[in-house]
Amino acid sequence: MPAKNLEELVSLCKRRGFIFQSHEIYGGMQGLYDYGPLGVELKNNIKSSWWRDLVYERDDIEGLDAAILTKQSVLQYSGHEDTFTDPLVDCKDCKARMRADHIKDGKCLNCGSTNLTEARPFNLMFKTNIGPIDDDSSFAYLRPETAQQIFVNYKNVTDSTSRVPPFGIAQIGKAFRNEITLKSFIFRVREFEQMELEYFVEPGTDEEWHEKWVDQRLSWWLKQGVEKNNLELLDVPKDELSHYSKKTVDIMYKFPHGLEELEGIANRTDFDLGSHSKNQNELNISAKIKHNNHSNAKLAFKRPEDKDWIVPYVIEPSAGVDRAFLALLNESYFEEEIDGGQRIVLKLKPHLSPIKVAVIPLKKNNAEIVNIAKQIKNNLQSHGLGRVLFENSGNIGKSYRRHDEIGTPTCITVDFESLENQTVTLRDRDTMSQERININRVEDFFKDKF
Ligand code: GAP
Repeated sequence: MPAKNLEELVSLCKRRGFIFQSHEIYGGMQGLYDYGPLGVELKNNIKSSWWRDLVYERDDIEGLDAAILTKQSVLQYSGHEDTFTDPLVDCKDCKARMRADHIKDGKCLNCGSTNLTEARPFNLMFKTNIGPIDDDSSFAYLRPETAQQIFVNYKNVTDSTSRVPPFGIAQIGKAFRNEITLKSFIFRVREFEQMELEYFVEPGTDEEWHEKWVDQRLSWWLKQGVEKNNLELLDVPKDELSHYSKKTVDIMYKFPHGLEELEGIANRTDFDLGSHSKNQNELNISAKIKHNNHSNAKLAFKRPEDKDWIVPYVIEPSAGVDRAFLALLNESYFEEEIDGGQRIVLKLKPHLSPIKVAVIPLKKNNAEIVNIAKQIKNNLQSHGLGRVLFENSGNIGKSYRRHDEIGTPTCITVDFESLENQTVTLRDRDTMSQERININRVEDFFKDKF
């Protein structure tokens, strides 16, 4: 399926309440977006699907939800203070700022001038202060990845759960990067969410686990409805690897603006746990540690049969929620010719749809019909399907169009016949076919569907 036009996706998002430009009434804020009534549902469904797949359906992964504000020392020892930079170039003519690695033929991306400054490193981390005193002692960062808080909680999690490798810690949460170049709607933004798994393994088994995780993650994307042909694997070249990585495979997706990274799966070796551990000699780590003031924690494991403490290696599948959102929107967006015109339809997998079922009374002002519709809504809602909407629009045709556009898999219509024989009409989003079923079968129909 070819990539869609980004403008069409942006327009749908605004029109139907998926995504808004942040701070719009104050003129907007670059690189920030707000998720509206439907956007928050789709985003939550993506995150739940990831969490369910990793934390609930396996037995070797624990969850975590750690602080966003991060002590400076954590990001010193993780290497981010020294290396989390992009090369920044200014155009001396139009004053535009851009990443040196994005420039083509030495020309400014804004005005085409070749009158550019030398590239200089620009650290992407946002800084802030904690507490009332604004000095060096209160200095902190907004985390640039969720991963570091997983590493610094390694001991808490292993002490409280008795886990030894192989096992993982999963976390979903916000990350912040002061990106120089923003790109393609929600593809590259300054505040975003990550779904990160740090999977701890015995050194020597890391390469095998890395391959397994690439396969696992690919199969998750396919289960979300991404077409295989739209995904590619990229073995990240050695000179482009992050400072902590021995090998990274990126899952690339054909976004509307081109083939780009959707998720990265890195072999972080023992770099992070090693860096955050004090007892480096005892632990025999390979991480290159430059600082002396380490944490006191021993971030390692030792089974009864082990003579020495071992620092686990880490395999890290790290996916962006916002990029997942854009990819899934792109996958599911279709424009179709139908009798008397055209329809836009979001063919999202039902588990991702923001609204699972819309219950629509045929007549807005008929109390009996409205009551039955409300009862069906309340009954379905109590079964934990996700959001079930009672929609008293009084215009069935318009409601069907709207629910096609926002990806609602099924609409239920309650009409005069429902009063006579206790049946309702179920209308399918993808085929537009309609069937009548008895009200007492509705619950089972949806239990099967979800
Ligand atoms: N912990 C590893 C890590 O953060 P990364 O490749 O820098 O690795 C992982 O980021 C994922 O986070 C990316 O594959 C992407 O989906 C998402 N991501 C990174 N920067 C982003 C940005 N500025 N805007 C939106 N998503 C971003």
